[in-house]
Order: sequence, then structure tokens, then C-alpha cells
Amino acid sequence: MAVTIAVLSQKGGTGKTTAVRTLADVFRRVGLETLAVDLDPQGNLSDYFDLPPDAEPTIAEVLGGSRPATEAIHDDVIPANLQLAEAELALTGKMGRELTLRRALRGLGDGYDVILVDCPPSLGLLTVNALVAADHALITAEAQYFALQGVEQALEVIDLARENLNPDLNWVGVVLNLADMRTVHSREAYQSLADAYPDQVFRTTIRQSIAYAESAERAVSILDYRPDLGADYLALARELLDRLGLEDASERVESLAGELAGGRR
Ligand SMILES: Nc1ncnc2c1ncn2[C@@H]1O[C@H](COP(=O)(O)OP(=O)(O)O)[C@@H](O)[C@H]1O
Ligand SMILES: [Mg+2]
Repeated sequence: MAVTIAVLSQKGGTGKTTAVRTLADVFRRVGLETLAVDLDPQGNLSDYFDLPPDAEPTIAEVLGGSRPATEAIHDDVIPANLQLAEAELALTGKMGRELTLRRALRGLGDGYDVILVDCPPSLGLLTVNALVAADHALITAEAQYFALQGVEQALEVIDLARENLNPDLNWVGVVLNLADMRTVHSREAYQSLADAYPDQVFRTTIRQSIAYAESAERAVSILDYRPDLGADYLALARELLDRLGLEDASERVESLAGELAGGRR
């Protein structure tokens, strides 16, 4: 049975899509069958995985009920495009609108160990759908003064999902992204999260680098493009897998980190 993780934040540019893309990559390399679901009409995740822009059906048809999720899987990714914005509008007036993704993904879990859902940069109906479908919520926060505020807003929506529709939803943690821990600015952002949520903030922070935009443009994983930076995601994956109780996989990530570091020398 797959463990489903929704990656969310209340705004764009906090590294959600990069996190889903890279964590999926790490998980696959250690033998975890991983499905990545793009739930953002911008379709960035689909681009980062280099899926053809006309790959069909997409998550829009799945949420609209015209196609089953199994048919929308392309190379272990369910893509999205602008049609998802229309599908979201069409959902708005429907009964059970918050449960649509959960129902659509039901049954897929048998074929996968992990399902990662990349949320859009807002806390609206699509993100609520992800949270209702998920076992765990992972928040990304940009290393800025407003990081804490963004996390608090995301937490309110997690609480709503939990109170109304998904009582077992677990907040698995918050990761500080695009960080430069040499600066006071980033260190203060981290400290504000650590003070407020000492048990949830990941020790690992993801360093800021232009290499991420470059690797995204080339649809190459940061693990291959810049293994030295990819080490951040390997460390994050280990912490995350430990929190999920998947210690075996976490140990395999440690071996992978050794291999990638060895390849660099
Ligand atoms: N650690 C990082 N350092 C610098 N830029 C990053 C980092 N992670 C992602 N980016 C870049 O920032 C932009 C937004 O990242 P993305 O993952 O798409 O965020 P979101 O999905 O939250 O909008 C992209 O251009 C991406 O390549
Ligand atoms: Mg995104």
C-alpha cells in the first residue's frame, strides 16, 4: 500500500515542484516504486520530467471523471496542463468535490510504494483535494522573513482537511528551501521555524543555487546535474524516510549518497 505525500505551500517559488521531482528521483533510485502527480495547471512537474506537452489523458480528465487514473500515468507521472484550471472550476459546484482526487487515486496504491502530489501555489480546492487524498503533508518554505507566516497558513488548511475529511492526515514536516545559511536572513528564517515547530522542521535545508533553474530547463535531475547540491535532497530524503518509518530505504539512500559522492571525485 502506497504512502501518499502532498507537497504544498501557500505561494509559488518555494521549491515544491523541484522537491517532488527530486524526491521522486531519489526514491526511485533506491527501489521505491514512486508515482508523481502534477496537480498544478502550470504543469511544471510534467515539464521537469520532460513529458511531451501533449501527453493525454492528464489529471484534468481524471478529476473530471472521464478517464481512470491508471490511463493517465505516463512514465510514472500523472501530468497536468491548463485544462486542470477548467477541471477545478467544474469541480467547484459538485458534491464531494474535496474527495475527488482521493477517490480517483484509490486502487493505485497497490502498484506503488510512494505517491507524491505536487500542489499548485495556492491553498484552494486542488490543494485541499491533495490533502484529503494524502497520508502526509510536506510543507516547503522559502528562506525569507515571511516563511513562518506561510507555514502557518498552510497549517490552517491542513487542520481543515484533518477536521473535516481526513482525520489521519499527518504533518510530516517543513523544509526550508532556497536557503543560504551563510546569511543572517536565512538563519533567522530557519530559527523562526525551529522555534515554532521544533519537531517538524527538517534539519536539512536546501541550498539556493541557479543550478536548479538550469537543470529544470534541461529536464535533468539535480542529482546528475550537480551531485554536490543533490546531496541536500539525499539528506532530506533520508530524514523524510525515517519519519515515514521506511528506515531500510533510508539506509539505501545513504549508500546512494556514497556512490554519487564517489562518482564526483
Ligand atoms: N534550491 C533552489 N535554489 C534556487 N532555485 C531553485 C531551488 N529550487 C528550485 N529553484 C528554482 O526556483 C523556481 C521555482 O521552483 P519550483 O520548484 O518550481 O517552486 P514551486 O513549485 O514552489 O513554485 C524554479 O525556477 C526552480 O528551478
Ligand atoms: Mg510548482
